[in-house]
Amino acid sequence: MDHFLYRNGVLHAEDVPVPEIAVAVGTPFYLYSTATLLRHYRLFEEGLAGTDHLICYAVKALSNQAILATLAAEGAGMDVVSEGEYRRALAAGVPGERVVFSGVGKTRGEMRVALAGGIRQFNVESEPEMRALDEVARSMGLVAPVAIRVNPDVDARTHEKIATGRKENKFGIPISRAREVYAEAARLKGLKVVGIDVHIGSQLTDLAPFEEAYTKVAELARQLRADGHEISRLDLGGGLGIPYESQSNAPPPLPTDYCAMVRRVVGDLGCEIEIEPGRLIAGNAGIMVAQVVWLKHGEDRDFLILDAGMNDLIRPAMYGAWHEIVPVIEPAPGAELHPFDIVGPVCETGDTFARNRPMPPVAAGDLVAFRSAGAYGAVMASEYNTRPLIPEVLVRGDQFAVIRARPTFDEIIGRDTIPEWL
Ligand code: LLP
Repeated sequence: MDHFLYRNGVLHAEDVPVPEIAVAVGTPFYLYSTATLLRHYRLFEEGLAGTDHLICYAVKALSNQAILATLAAEGAGMDVVSEGEYRRALAAGVPGERVVFSGVGKTRGEMRVALAGGIRQFNVESEPEMRALDEVARSMGLVAPVAIRVNPDVDARTHEKIATGRKENKFGIPISRAREVYAEAARLKGLKVVGIDVHIGSQLTDLAPFEEAYTKVAELARQLRADGHEISRLDLGGGLGIPYESQSNAPPPLPTDYCAMVRRVVGDLGCEIEIEPGRLIAGNAGIMVAQVVWLKHGEDRDFLILDAGMNDLIRPAMYGAWHEIVPVIEPAPGAELHPFDIVGPVCETGDTFARNRPMPPVAAGDLVAFRSAGAYGAVMASEYNTRPLIPEVLVRGDQFAVIRARPTFDEIIGRDTIPEWL
């Protein structure tokens, strides 16, 4: 459920008509709904109510500070994977003690920044990283709280580029070696083991792989406790998928179902539960609005050429992802549909958002909205073809605010430096 609905024939974001925003900021742009964001966050809160838990929003999904501040005001923690994300979280007002630091390639510099600024825990992904973190923490006279990310070798049954829990993936430590690695961690004076971390992939549409992984983690927690480790926290990662098709007849499980499963599988351990949802909170809380530049009749097919391209929303080009694309002005009931290839202006055939997509009548100048574009949309955008990063706008009720402005061409071009010898 989201808050992008037609009202009087016009797509609205909460109480604001989308065309009004298009006039104010120009197209293309990202548009987020506070009510949708909060609704999804609160579904997890409700699902875990009564347990000791912290929802650490995966900042990578949508990292604008206005979004982080909105969630932080609800009490959310954050999951970050880089110094940049760590700094963003703090800049948005999240205390370091509510931030977990994940990622396979943390540098010593990043460890130092997070230790100095305060951190809830590092999710350590390898032995070299663990030893480096120990050294860095001791050199600062500190002790780093750590969970070790285990790789449970579970098939997440999602797109191969976003599956992370198989043994051939680069993530975590094989669960079979976990006891050995925890034993070493316990000997390192710069570390304090606080728990276990796992994350098996993204856009999971079935609870079974989660349950398989969490069952393995629960067994490991018991073993590690028997080995004398204090396991007080379980970080269960993110990954719950969203419906990309609003009319889907097989929608993914709801956060409520996911949380019930979590409680059933790990509830009796008495651990504090952390989860790291990104897409489920941000995905359906955002749309991308673009304008039709040309309608082009090809020899073989018809093209709808938009002013947004693969650099603005890369998911279709990168993962073959399917996004619902709807006209901002509601089509007449029973309007005839015509198939289009919906493409951007970038000079690559891969700059295709949809092929043979049945669309109601559309004309040059019309606005269209890509639904479910809140997560992994703006954050994965680039300036390829020297196309400015598109603005981000946040709606709350009948108000809207530009939360990241479109850069000017002078700003973009001015970042280059021509060496003196030229
Ligand atoms: N925690 C960790 C350690 C992660 O690596 C990720 C996502 C998450 C949490 C959040 O997962 P979520 O709840 O959002 O599924 N760009 C891809 C998705 C990449 C996900 C990477 N890791 C896409 O557009 O589909």
